[in-house]
Amino acid sequence: NFTAANFVDDIVAELKEKLKDDKVVLGLSGGVDSTVAAVLLNKAIGKNLYCIFVNNGLLRKNEFESVLHQYKDMGLNVKGVDASDRFLTALAGVDDPEKKRKAIGRVFIEVFDDEAHKLTDVKWLAQGTIYPDVIESISVKGPSATIKSHHNVGGLPDFMKLQVVEPLRMLFKDEVRRVGATLGIDPELLGRHPFPGPGLAIRILGDITPEKVSILQEVDAIFIEGLKANGLYDKVWQAGAILLPVNSVGVMGDERTYEKVVALRAVESTDGMTADWVHLPYEFLMKVSNQIINKVKGVNRVVYDISSKPPATIEWE
Ligand code: XMP
Repeated sequence: NFTAANFVDDIVAELKEKLKDDKVVLGLSGGVDSTVAAVLLNKAIGKNLYCIFVNNGLLRKNEFESVLHQYKDMGLNVKGVDASDRFLTALAGVDDPEKKRKAIGRVFIEVFDDEAHKLTDVKWLAQGTIYPDVIESISVKGPSATIKSHHNVGGLPDFMKLQVVEPLRMLFKDEVRRVGATLGIDPELLGRHPFPGPGLAIRILGDITPEKVSILQEVDAIFIEGLKANGLYDKVWQAGAILLPVNSVGVMGDERTYEKVVALRAVESTDGMTADWVHLPYEFLMKVSNQIINKVKGVNRVVYDISSKPPATIEWE
């Protein structure tokens, strides 16, 4: 019988005992798990925790700046690294979903390793691994699999040789959220939808260009803001927009247009293993669709994904 307050007291004491005056490096993702892990470690060892938050150029609109700001406000010792160009260069011309994931995983490891090398005497790598990740560590999609495949081809990057500390590895997601609340983390951050590590790269079907990323960021921001403004965000497990690799004909004034199609996806789920599409109100879909088509240059059609998992997956790639 789990209580968040007891967990915090016990784990902080345990971390102090284990880490003493050692330096620890941790990669922040903007998600709940890495944030809660960082705040716990910060409580235990303070400035000896070095957090790195990498912008892969595939985050939501304004996410890097706003989340970095939030991390600093929380008193975390964090360095923001904008590596967007490195990621987008590595992704140029890549349209296969698994190749995208591999390229992103590889560049992430390179960027993180470069940053970790700038710190001296780091002894530990902290990770926000939670219990379901431990069970599913053989999953083909997770970052650990990426690291493994990297390991097989090129040898282990130096930061992977560090001792690993995973303060959340016995917890389920709802327990992580309760621990986060006990630690005083912003409820909005704790209530965020899951977001895949490869980010918008797997929501741009086909090859990725900076223009496509910014189109999708605008569309996604309108959808997500709309969900929040209409009290729907917390009723949905995960939502996002997908940029399709097709143009469709439209009409604007007297002109014929031939522009991009976007799909909106919103699902209910408990663990992502199965999911149902959410019956969002027609009124809401109508408003959001109009806003997207009127405001986002290059998009003339919006569709709503009414597929459940299985057999469809949540992401389109
Ligand atoms: P699917 O598309 O498999 O997604 O139904 C299930 C959940 O996993 C997330 N997802 C990923 N997360 N790296 C991640 O970190 C990935 O490559 C990846 N692919 C899918 C997806 O967003 C959903 O929450």
